[in-house]
Amino acid sequence: MPETREKIIAANWKMNKTFHEGLALLVELNMLLESEPTQHTVVVAPPYIHLHSAGHAVTDTGIKIAAQNCHQEANGAFTGEVSASMLESVGVEFVILGHSERRQYFGETDELVAQKIKTAAAAGLKVIYCCGEPLEVRQEEKHFELVKQQITNALKDFQPGVLKDVVIAYEPVWAIGTGLTASPEQAQEMHAFIRETLKGIFGESIAKATPILYGGSMKPGNAKALLSQPDVDGGLIGGASLVAQDFFDIIHSFPA
Ligand code: PGA
Repeated sequence: MPETREKIIAANWKMNKTFHEGLALLVELNMLLESEPTQHTVVVAPPYIHLHSAGHAVTDTGIKIAAQNCHQEANGAFTGEVSASMLESVGVEFVILGHSERRQYFGETDELVAQKIKTAAAAGLKVIYCCGEPLEVRQEEKHFELVKQQITNALKDFQPGVLKDVVIAYEPVWAIGTGLTASPEQAQEMHAFIRETLKGIFGESIAKATPILYGGSMKPGNAKALLSQPDVDGGLIGGASLVAQDFFDIIHSFPA
């Protein structure tokens, strides 16, 4: 039943906000949430360097902290990289993996992301695994095929026990940061398809329990329609998460 699934709104700040700007954003968000709390899960993913202080800033607020990436190996000689257990050790609870910007600009493949998921899960982190098609793939009507591949390649080798710590984010690449959004019907269609794909690999109970978030230009004006879809369990928000009031308004856009 959809209503038993965890509902999650997650902020992906990407490479935005200096240290003080980031903390000010968290303080403002927290003040808004104190005035009007939510029963849903709120996650914020600042850049690595802010994570430790961000964790302190949200102590006792209910806001959870995510990283935007981690390395696939548990530790070792990988200059400049950050491991999953380091993240866990500073209070990070979630990590976003497989974001399309990581795939596009840093050459990350499904196989690499599968390794990262394994390492992150072993370190005790929950994973927000991103999938979604570029524009030309949708135009060729191969979007279902591609998303099925992304889900299957990255997740198929995991035991169902690991899946309880995985959240999926469907983010059509053509909608990220472009102002274009998937229509509520397009989002619902793909989310239902992802759930079917999960059912085929892991069975019905995992498929029903896994939250599937939508990402791609979600904002206060379109969040209600997207979040009202039965298989849309939340959002992964980029641009609109950089303004506390906008992010707060999205958090409060779930149907009552
Ligand atoms: P956007 O980004 O909301 O700015 O489109 C979403 C994302 O990339 O996670």
